Amino acid sequence: MGINKVKGTYDVLPNESHKWIMLEKKIRDILSLYHMREMRTPMMEYSNVFHRDSEGSDMVTKETYDFVDRSNRALTLRPEGTAGVIRAYVENKLYASQELEKVFYIGPNFRYERPQKGRYRQFYQFGVEAIGTVDPALDAEIVILAYDFITRLGLKGVKVRVNTLGDEASRSAYQEALVKHFTPHKDELCSDCKVRIDKNPLRILDCKIDHKHQAVIDAPTPLDLLNETSKAYFDEVIRYLDAAGISYEIAPKLVRGLDYYSHTVFEIEADIEGFGAQNVLGGGGRYQNLVKELGGPDLGGIGFAFGMERLLMAIEASDIDFSSDLALDCFVITMTKDLRKIATKLLYDLRAQDFVADMNYTDKAFKGQFKQALRLGAKYIVILGEEEAKKGVASIKDTKTEVQEEVKLEDIILYLKHKLES
Ligand code: HAM
Repeated sequence: MGINKVKGTYDVLPNESHKWIMLEKKIRDILSLYHMREMRTPMMEYSNVFHRDSEGSDMVTKETYDFVDRSNRALTLRPEGTAGVIRAYVENKLYASQELEKVFYIGPNFRYERPQKGRYRQFYQFGVEAIGTVDPALDAEIVILAYDFITRLGLKGVKVRVNTLGDEASRSAYQEALVKHFTPHKDELCSDCKVRIDKNPLRILDCKIDHKHQAVIDAPTPLDLLNETSKAYFDEVIRYLDAAGISYEIAPKLVRGLDYYSHTVFEIEADIEGFGAQNVLGGGGRYQNLVKELGGPDLGGIGFAFGMERLLMAIEASDIDFSSDLALDCFVITMTKDLRKIATKLLYDLRAQDFVADMNYTDKAFKGQFKQALRLGAKYIVILGEEEAKKGVASIKDTKTEVQEEVKLEDIILYLKHKLES
């Protein structure tokens, strides 16, 4: 038996990696327009960044990879980006120098979930966090950014759905209303939801098993229990979204899966055929207690994260051209080992001139090498044969026009430069 990849992980093969690179480039280009800087935090954190038993609830998700290192420290592979970013924000006292810190991040996360299309155990997220300021205009800016991002990518059939959970008081009132609503139906709910009634009833609304149950369909919405301040806050957010003129819809039942949200929550859904249940490309919301819980001052933040595998699936489904522009300018064919030394120097000089160049390293016959050059899509093939070398020349073939010319060895760079640039 061979050794296989870990269940729920995948390899990005060389013929696919350009899509990832393109997506990451787009992210960086678009995010810089929003004056956001990149932040990189470790993939592992002490477990209490994500789990805090004292509060009887998991801040992020239960589905984590937890382990003990050789010194008996409890560590966790990050299941998402936010908690680590906030940990770093607090630890480095970033709040002391900026009243608003706007950052983005790209990187792998780990969740022990049941793998299926669009859901993995190691997956990439691109996310943003704006920490330090509480203002409806900032909530709107983050939703607008998510909208702008998917629009610029050119994704089709995508919707932005927005809701509010209200402040702490409204959220608690809502949770109580849910407990009251679901308790008579406890026996009919799935085993997870039975526990959720006491622990975090909001998550029942997100349940993949019970979502068609009548009690879930008839459940009260956060909007039913908003106090005046929370309602005013949400109304302002909506006014800012309208001012920007982006398209969104209010989704009264939207609560999002993570525990740390209050006020604005939102998600980006792709209504794309063949997408199945994993049609949520990303989501986020405001968090008011996370900074404090991780040992910092009483400051709120808001952010979102997109799943990059799902973004790439949506990009493909929307027929967006993400093809590679890494073309091979020149492939050098050599007929003997000695000639390969000339080729080595030639490659070095070509690359010094910023040409993408490669050669053959085996003793394959001319025909095999030629085929290889064509398969790799080389624009020009430089043929170093014995006869040619004696004359101090090489043959250069333009693979498009099929025209072949003899060029002096010392003129090859100039010749290719002229051809490739014209
Ligand atoms: P989340 O909703 O847990 O939010 O994850 C965001 C996105 O990550 C999901 O919508 C999905 O596209 C992707 N995702 C999550 N789990 C998986 C998985 N197992 N496989 C593939 N993709 C997955 C967060 O993580 C929050 N930190 C977002 C946030 C940032 N809220 C505030 N700031």
